[in-house]
Amino acid sequence: MPLPSEQLEALLKTARSVRECAYAPYSEYSVGSALLTSDGRIFSGCNVENLSFGLTICAERNAIAAAVAAGMQVGQLRAIAVVGETLGQITPCGACRQVIAEFACGVCVVIGAGPRGDSETWSVEELLPHRFRAEL
Ligand code: THU
Repeated sequence: MPLPSEQLEALLKTARSVRECAYAPYSEYSVGSALLTSDGRIFSGCNVENLSFGLTICAERNAIAAAVAAGMQVGQLRAIAVVGETLGQITPCGACRQVIAEFACGVCVVIGAGPRGDSETWSVEELLPHRFRAEL
């Protein structure tokens, strides 16, 4: 189910804004992310790097952590946008795709935006087919 354009624009605006807060002194690559929950709330996150490089946390996972801390449950992630200054549209890294898939609702969309304001939308299944699943 496509995202209404007002919601898409709201997510991109929030992701662009939070990108200004990115802490990325090592890669100098700032990323902003904003997500929409199925009950209509928006949460955001930016990448936070560390001198111990492996401790870096991506923007998307920080946005999801903020939403979870405010009560978002598994299956309530309706859409997540990510904004970076790549040549084309940025797409979430593999680790973020797995985390997005964990919380995604059935019609969840992932939006990647490039530097010229252009964006592209994918389903979670398109970005991460055959994802890891365990019978818990
Ligand atoms: N990064 C994100 O925040 N999200 C992604 O999906 C890909 C990469 C960050 C991590 C690191 O701080 C910087 O971008 C360069 O890899």
